[in-house]
Amino acid sequence: MLNGKKILLIIGGGIAAFKCHDLIRGLREAGASVTPVLTEAGKEFVTPLSISVLSGSKVYVDLFDLEDETQMGHIELSRNSDLIVIVPATADLLAKMASGLANDLASTLLLATDTEVLAAPAMNVRMWEHLATRRNIQLLKKDGIGFIGPVEGSMACGEFGFGRMAEPEQIITAIKKKLSLGKLKGKHIVVTSGPTHEQIDPVRFIGNLSSGTQGNQIAVALLNEGARVTLISGPTHIELPLGAEIKRVESANEMFKEVKKSLPADAFVMVAAVADWKTKEFSKSKIKKNSDKELVLKLIKNPDILEYVSKLKKDRPKLVVGFAAETDDLIANATEKLNRKKCDWIVANDIRPETNIMGGTENAVILISNAGVEKWERMDKSEVALKLVGLMAKKLNLS
Ligand code: C5P
Repeated sequence: MLNGKKILLIIGGGIAAFKCHDLIRGLREAGASVTPVLTEAGKEFVTPLSISVLSGSKVYVDLFDLEDETQMGHIELSRNSDLIVIVPATADLLAKMASGLANDLASTLLLATDTEVLAAPAMNVRMWEHLATRRNIQLLKKDGIGFIGPVEGSMACGEFGFGRMAEPEQIITAIKKKLSLGKLKGKHIVVTSGPTHEQIDPVRFIGNLSSGTQGNQIAVALLNEGARVTLISGPTHIELPLGAEIKRVESANEMFKEVKKSLPADAFVMVAAVADWKTKEFSKSKIKKNSDKELVLKLIKNPDILEYVSKLKKDRPKLVVGFAAETDDLIANATEKLNRKKCDWIVANDIRPETNIMGGTENAVILISNAGVEKWERMDKSEVALKLVGLMAKKLNLS
């Protein structure tokens, strides 16, 4: 996937620098070569020796190293790669970049380069939220610097919030996207994921057990193939993929609105477990327990988003994929859905509780299309995503 790509990796001085080890390993496994540049502060967190061993390259540290300058000057070093990646991009490095300082090797390379730059910031949450950092980020984004993260989470300093660096695999995905590599580059794909919540009163809703995992994995696999992904997600606690355009929704109606706004697209993958019904009337006050033994809720049908998109006359995505979660007569029911909703493929799965598929990490699916019925063996949801995205890429590149 990154075969032959040259990455200049600038390692800043932050505790997150330790993640560089896995990042370098991952980049090399994907076929890239890594030339590391270590800042003076970076040396406090990782050693030149470990970075050199992992990257299989000389580690550049000093701006005024005569030996380096005779072999490859800093200007050449700054231009001799496909992408410059800064991991971690500390508040200090970002400030230097934003103001055009060039007082060490890393900042000089960043000022001299004509190559694209991707920064993975990591810092304490207060530093990330500081107005000075906000200003710097804004300026750098305007200058065309790409960013991946930071994400929300617990940090080495013991605080919690935004400032934690993206994980190595997320950075690799962002690198692929930045380099526009992959079989789906230039394609826009809309994915829906997770459950919907249909509010009954201010504190109660109708929901389901969907975790959003399968939809998320599909979004990640699409991003890895270079697609532009819009992920419309119902309420879920899982971390949504960095690099996708994320739209969070609650109800089927909200999802429907966001889907319409996100089109046109080359493909549409409707993984979300949409509630078929919603309450006819939303009660503004909490429904009280009363003396009656029964509470009758009137339900009305939600719009069928998959059917709407499949039957679009204008701007119908070239490939429309639905999912069918069934407890009985899986193939017959899923085939009926394919025919009624007029989508191109249906990914059917058996969600009887004993399969532990809904909300679990594995999936056993059957792909149904006009070409026939294809049973896949049970595998991790990420593998299902990879296989499905592989087929999607083939289909989209043929049509
Ligand atoms: O709920 P059902 O089994 O019919 O879902 C099959 C497919 O239709 C799924 O892809 C689901 O996301 C989609 N769907 C939808 N709108 C609904 C209900 C389901 O798009 N209201």
